[in-house]
Amino acid sequence: MNSTTPSESISELTDSLMQVLRLRRTILPKRLVTPGPTKEQLCVLFEAAATAPDHDQILPWRFLVFPSSSRVALGALFAQSLHERDAEATPEQLDKAREKALRSPFLMLLVVDQCRGSHEVDLNERLLSAGCAVQNILSVATSMGFGSSLTSGKAMKSKIFRKELGLSEGEHAVCFISVGTIATSKQAKTRPTVDQFVSTWAS
Ligand SMILES: Cc1cc2nc3c(=O)[nH]c(=O)nc-3n(C[C@H](O)[C@H](O)[C@H](O)COP(=O)(O)O)c2cc1C
Repeated sequence: MNSTTPSESISELTDSLMQVLRLRRTILPKRLVTPGPTKEQLCVLFEAAATAPDHDQILPWRFLVFPSSSRVALGALFAQSLHERDAEATPEQLDKAREKALRSPFLMLLVVDQCRGSHEVDLNERLLSAGCAVQNILSVATSMGFGSSLTSGKAMKSKIFRKELGLSEGEHAVCFISVGTIATSKQAKTRPTVDQFVSTWAS
Protein backbone atom coordinates (compact mmCIF):
# COMPACT_ATOMS: atom_id res chain seq x y z
CA MET A 1 0.00 0.00 0.00
CA ASN A 2 1.22 3.52 -0.79
CA SER A 3 1.83 5.27 2.55
CA THR A 4 2.42 8.74 1.13
CA THR A 5 -0.33 11.25 0.42
CA PRO A 6 -0.98 12.11 -3.24
CA SER A 7 0.74 15.49 -2.98
CA GLU A 8 3.83 13.97 -1.33
CA SER A 9 4.11 11.34 -3.98
CA ILE A 10 3.85 13.98 -6.74
CA SER A 11 6.62 15.95 -5.06
CA GLU A 12 8.87 12.88 -4.84
CA LEU A 13 8.27 12.12 -8.50
CA THR A 14 8.96 15.72 -9.45
CA ASP A 15 12.14 15.74 -7.39
CA SER A 16 13.42 12.57 -9.02
CA LEU A 17 12.59 13.79 -12.49
CA MET A 18 14.20 17.18 -11.90
CA GLN A 19 17.34 15.51 -10.55
CA VAL A 20 17.65 13.60 -13.81
CA LEU A 21 16.97 16.64 -15.96
CA ARG A 22 19.53 18.71 -14.06
CA LEU A 23 22.08 15.93 -14.40
CA ARG A 24 21.85 15.63 -18.18
CA ARG A 25 24.52 17.32 -20.16
CA THR A 26 26.14 16.79 -23.52
CA ILE A 27 28.88 14.18 -23.40
CA LEU A 28 30.32 14.17 -26.90
CA PRO A 29 30.99 10.84 -28.67
CA LYS A 30 34.77 11.17 -28.21
CA ARG A 31 34.19 11.10 -24.43
CA LEU A 32 31.98 7.99 -24.50
CA VAL A 33 33.22 4.41 -24.16
CA THR A 34 31.66 0.95 -23.97
CA PRO A 35 29.49 -0.45 -22.54
CA GLY A 36 26.53 1.17 -24.21
CA PRO A 37 22.95 0.31 -23.30
CA THR A 38 21.93 -3.36 -23.21
CA LYS A 39 19.01 -4.66 -25.29
CA GLU A 40 16.75 -4.33 -22.25
CA GLN A 41 17.90 -0.78 -21.59
CA LEU A 42 17.37 0.10 -25.26
CA CYS A 43 13.79 -1.17 -25.03
CA VAL A 44 13.20 1.26 -22.17
CA LEU A 45 14.82 4.13 -24.08
CA PHE A 46 12.58 3.49 -27.08
CA GLU A 47 9.53 3.13 -24.87
CA ALA A 48 10.41 6.58 -23.47
CA ALA A 49 10.55 7.96 -27.02
CA ALA A 50 7.12 6.50 -27.76
CA THR A 51 5.57 8.58 -24.97
CA ALA A 52 6.33 11.83 -26.84
CA PRO A 53 3.38 14.05 -27.80
CA ASP A 54 2.46 13.44 -31.44
CA HIS A 55 -0.28 15.56 -33.02
CA ASP A 56 -2.79 13.28 -34.81
CA GLN A 57 -0.51 10.34 -33.93
CA ILE A 58 1.19 10.40 -37.29
CA LEU A 59 4.54 9.20 -35.92
CA PRO A 60 6.56 11.71 -37.97
CA TRP A 61 9.95 10.49 -36.74
CA ARG A 62 12.03 7.33 -36.67
CA PHE A 63 15.47 6.24 -35.52
CA LEU A 64 18.02 4.47 -37.68
CA VAL A 65 20.43 2.46 -35.51
CA PHE A 66 24.05 1.83 -36.51
CA PRO A 67 25.34 -1.40 -34.97
CA SER A 68 29.11 -1.82 -34.64
CA SER A 69 29.16 -4.00 -37.77
CA SER A 70 27.98 -1.00 -39.84
CA ARG A 71 30.38 1.63 -38.56
CA VAL A 72 33.17 1.20 -41.09
CA ALA A 73 30.62 1.56 -43.90
CA LEU A 74 29.12 4.62 -42.16
CA GLY A 75 32.62 6.10 -41.88
CA ALA A 76 33.15 5.54 -45.61
CA LEU A 77 29.87 7.36 -46.20
CA PHE A 78 31.04 10.32 -44.08
CA ALA A 79 34.22 10.45 -46.15
CA GLN A 80 32.25 10.26 -49.42
CA SER A 81 29.95 13.04 -48.20
CA LEU A 82 32.96 15.20 -47.41
CA HIS A 83 34.39 14.50 -50.85
CA GLU A 84 31.01 15.43 -52.38
CA ARG A 85 31.19 18.83 -50.61
CA ASP A 86 34.90 19.36 -51.08
CA ALA A 87 36.67 17.44 -53.84
CA GLU A 88 39.99 18.77 -52.46
CA ALA A 89 39.60 17.34 -48.95
CA THR A 90 42.96 15.97 -47.79
CA PRO A 91 43.51 12.29 -46.81
CA GLU A 92 43.78 13.47 -43.17
CA GLN A 93 40.41 15.22 -43.37
CA LEU A 94 38.85 12.12 -44.96
CA ASP A 95 40.34 9.90 -42.22
CA LYS A 96 38.93 12.22 -39.56
CA ALA A 97 35.49 12.01 -41.19
CA ARG A 98 35.73 8.18 -41.23
CA GLU A 99 36.83 8.04 -37.62
CA LYS A 100 33.73 9.92 -36.42
CA ALA A 101 31.56 6.90 -37.20
CA LEU A 102 33.54 4.68 -34.84
CA ARG A 103 33.26 6.70 -31.64
CA SER A 104 29.90 6.11 -29.94
CA PRO A 105 29.10 2.81 -28.21
CA PHE A 106 25.49 3.29 -29.27
CA LEU A 107 24.70 5.46 -32.27
CA MET A 108 21.50 6.24 -34.13
CA LEU A 109 20.16 8.87 -36.48
CA LEU A 110 16.97 10.85 -35.93
CA VAL A 111 14.93 11.04 -39.13
CA VAL A 112 11.86 13.30 -39.40
CA ASP A 113 9.29 12.89 -42.16
CA GLN A 114 7.53 16.03 -43.38
CA CYS A 115 5.02 14.14 -45.59
CA ARG A 116 3.75 11.19 -43.56
CA GLY A 117 0.17 11.45 -42.30
CA SER A 118 -1.98 14.57 -42.07
CA HIS A 119 -0.64 17.57 -43.99
CA GLU A 120 -2.23 19.82 -41.36
CA VAL A 121 0.67 18.90 -39.06
CA ASP A 122 3.49 21.08 -40.32
CA LEU A 123 7.24 20.49 -40.12
CA ASN A 124 7.58 22.58 -36.94
CA GLU A 125 5.17 20.31 -35.10
CA ARG A 126 6.87 17.20 -36.44
CA LEU A 127 10.30 18.42 -35.34
CA LEU A 128 8.91 19.34 -31.94
CA SER A 129 7.44 15.87 -31.48
CA ALA A 130 10.82 14.39 -32.47
CA GLY A 131 12.58 16.73 -30.01
CA CYS A 132 10.32 15.51 -27.22
CA ALA A 133 11.08 11.90 -28.12
CA VAL A 134 14.80 12.63 -28.14
CA GLN A 135 14.71 14.47 -24.82
CA ASN A 136 12.89 11.49 -23.30
CA ILE A 137 15.66 9.20 -24.53
CA LEU A 138 18.40 11.49 -23.21
CA SER A 139 16.66 11.82 -19.84
CA VAL A 140 16.13 8.10 -19.37
CA ALA A 141 19.70 7.38 -20.55
CA THR A 142 20.89 9.88 -17.92
CA SER A 143 18.81 8.16 -15.24
CA MET A 144 20.57 4.89 -16.18
CA GLY A 145 23.95 6.57 -15.60
CA PHE A 146 24.88 6.91 -19.29
CA GLY A 147 26.34 9.91 -21.03
CA SER A 148 24.70 11.05 -24.24
CA SER A 149 24.87 13.68 -26.94
CA LEU A 150 23.31 15.01 -30.09
CA THR A 151 25.56 15.78 -33.04
CA SER A 152 24.78 17.14 -36.44
CA GLY A 153 26.97 17.89 -39.43
CA LYS A 154 27.02 18.72 -43.10
CA ALA A 155 27.03 15.05 -44.15
CA MET A 156 23.35 14.77 -43.28
CA LYS A 157 22.33 16.91 -46.22
CA SER A 158 24.61 15.21 -48.71
CA LYS A 159 23.06 13.30 -51.61
CA ILE A 160 25.15 10.17 -51.16
CA PHE A 161 24.41 10.02 -47.43
CA ARG A 162 20.66 10.37 -47.97
CA LYS A 163 20.65 7.81 -50.77
CA GLU A 164 22.74 5.18 -48.99
CA LEU A 165 20.72 5.47 -45.77
CA GLY A 166 17.50 5.07 -47.74
CA LEU A 167 15.91 8.40 -46.80
CA SER A 168 12.79 9.20 -48.80
CA GLU A 169 12.13 12.56 -50.48
CA GLY A 170 10.28 14.10 -47.51
CA GLU A 171 12.60 12.78 -44.82
CA HIS A 172 15.17 14.91 -43.00
CA ALA A 173 18.22 13.50 -41.23
CA VAL A 174 18.19 15.77 -38.15
CA CYS A 175 20.95 14.64 -35.82
CA PHE A 176 22.85 11.66 -34.45
CA ILE A 177 22.17 10.44 -30.93
CA SER A 178 25.03 8.83 -29.02
CA VAL A 179 24.75 6.95 -25.75
CA GLY A 180 27.53 5.29 -23.76
CA THR A 181 29.60 5.15 -20.61
CA ILE A 182 31.18 8.45 -19.64
CA ALA A 183 34.98 8.32 -19.88
CA THR A 184 35.62 12.02 -19.35
CA SER A 185 33.38 15.04 -19.11
CA LYS A 186 33.67 18.80 -19.24
CA GLN A 187 32.11 21.23 -16.82
CA ALA A 188 28.34 21.54 -17.22
CA LYS A 189 27.09 24.49 -19.25
CA THR A 190 25.36 27.33 -17.43
CA ARG A 191 21.62 27.02 -17.92
CA PRO A 192 19.58 30.04 -19.03
CA THR A 193 17.66 31.83 -16.32
CA VAL A 194 13.86 31.86 -16.45
CA ASP A 195 13.67 35.57 -17.28
CA GLN A 196 15.70 34.89 -20.43
CA PHE A 197 12.95 32.77 -21.92
CA VAL A 198 9.69 33.59 -20.11
CA SER A 199 7.67 36.76 -20.43
CA THR A 200 4.09 37.64 -19.63
CA TRP A 201 1.78 39.07 -22.20
CA ALA A 202 0.34 42.40 -21.04
CA SER A 203 -2.88 42.86 -22.98
C1 LIG B 1 19.81 19.23 -32.85
C2 LIG B 1 21.11 19.41 -32.09
C3 LIG B 1 22.32 19.17 -32.72
C4 LIG B 1 23.52 19.32 -32.01
N1 LIG B 1 24.71 19.09 -32.67
C5 LIG B 1 25.87 19.28 -32.01
C6 LIG B 1 27.12 19.07 -32.68
O1 LIG B 1 27.17 18.74 -33.86
N2 LIG B 1 28.26 19.24 -31.96
C7 LIG B 1 28.23 19.59 -30.63
O2 LIG B 1 29.30 19.75 -30.03
N3 LIG B 1 27.06 19.77 -29.98
C8 LIG B 1 25.89 19.61 -30.63
N4 LIG B 1 24.69 19.81 -29.96
C9 LIG B 1 24.70 19.93 -28.49
C10 LIG B 1 24.68 21.37 -28.00
O3 LIG B 1 25.88 21.98 -28.33
C11 LIG B 1 24.48 21.31 -26.47
O4 LIG B 1 23.22 20.77 -26.18
C12 LIG B 1 24.59 22.70 -25.86
O5 LIG B 1 25.90 23.13 -25.91
C13 LIG B 1 24.16 22.72 -24.40
O6 LIG B 1 24.89 21.84 -23.63
P1 LIG B 1 24.20 20.70 -22.76
O7 LIG B 1 23.54 19.73 -23.73
O8 LIG B 1 25.32 20.07 -21.99
O9 LIG B 1 23.17 21.35 -21.90
C14 LIG B 1 23.49 19.69 -30.65
C15 LIG B 1 22.26 19.95 -30.03
C16 LIG B 1 21.09 19.84 -30.72
C17 LIG B 1 19.78 20.14 -30.04
